[in-house]
Amino acid sequence: MNGRSPAPALFGARIAGIGHYAPEHIVSNADLEKTLDTSDEWIVTRTGMRERRHASADMAVSDLAIRAAEQALKRGGYHATDIDCFILATVTPDFAFPATACIVASHLGATGKPAFDMEIACSGFIYGLSLAAGMIRSGVFTRMMVIGAEKLSGIMNMEDRATAILFGDGAGAAIVERSEQDSFLGCELGADGSTPETLYIPASGSRKPITAAALAAGEQYIHMQGREIFKSAVTRMVNSALVALDRAQLTPSDVRWFVPHQANKRIIDATARQLAMPPERVLMNVDRYGNTSSASIPMVMSEAVDRNLFADGDLLLLSGFGGGLSWGSVLWRWAA
Ligand code: UT7
Repeated sequence: MNGRSPAPALFGARIAGIGHYAPEHIVSNADLEKTLDTSDEWIVTRTGMRERRHASADMAVSDLAIRAAEQALKRGGYHATDIDCFILATVTPDFAFPATACIVASHLGATGKPAFDMEIACSGFIYGLSLAAGMIRSGVFTRMMVIGAEKLSGIMNMEDRATAILFGDGAGAAIVERSEQDSFLGCELGADGSTPETLYIPASGSRKPITAAALAAGEQYIHMQGREIFKSAVTRMVNSALVALDRAQLTPSDVRWFVPHQANKRIIDATARQLAMPPERVLMNVDRYGNTSSASIPMVMSEAVDRNLFADGDLLLLSGFGGGLSWGSVLWRWAA
């Protein structure tokens, strides 16, 4: 599947259940003001964020993912053994290896089922959903689970005001299954790895192992060139959305719900403006959860389902952007 959809498919794909989990502990802007040279006014004006969630020290990302997955299974009326394959998108796995998806699937009671992680940062759920749709539509699997889960509080330098205010923890999960009607109308995915240092953890892998010197320099934490990311985010998301729409022979006015990655309210507003998307069609929860990377899109979708926002036939435009750099958009026709 190269994204040049609608591609001929043997089967249709639909979302049959969606869930999310946000850790209980709320970190407000006022809390951050106590330890950082920042202010509620700066954070709200520059990001639209008012609070975010931090998971407790004894919780790993699999614990967040399992809770979101359990809600998706409950909503879909399925048991974990009904799922043929688990995909977990995350940049904060329980361990560098094995894949956290294996741990999640076993904990849910689906030992033996294929399970793997995807690491494509904030675009993780978009890539995962596209991949799952491709595998369902071509008949490889009948029912898959796509999870986006992050414990970003664990990789943030809480003394760095540029990143400590931005990121939060959470998880979202969607069950994608074979169906007569096809919800997947197309996607556009892209990546540019020429400047990985724009958003990365310097000491985290084979390029720069974690040494005592790296730890002393704080290189185990997220490093980000915020302004650079901001500029590319809007351009890339707008372009990606327009290409996906064009491939599906649709226009922004056909979209009922714009579901952007929750990176920053200003990024979302600018992207929506350039797509001529009115605010009432733009889904946002960045004020309550901050940027939860791969979890943000399934979390905002699951909250929309809680509120009964999506009606049968609604066209959803999902767009994301993040580390890699990476980006992507998916067009999804909601099936109740
Ligand atoms: O999912 C993808 C992941 N990353 C992103 O989405 C991040 C995208 N970028 C952004 O959201 C924005 O660039 C930020 C919110 C990170 C920063 O907003 P900005 O409007 O681009 O601010 P800036 O980086 O240009 O900084 C402006 C000023 C600087 O001070 P000087 O040099 O003008 O004196 C910063 O040092 O704001 C300062 N600053 C802060 N002040 C108070 C940076 N962070 C803070 C802070 N509180 N937390």
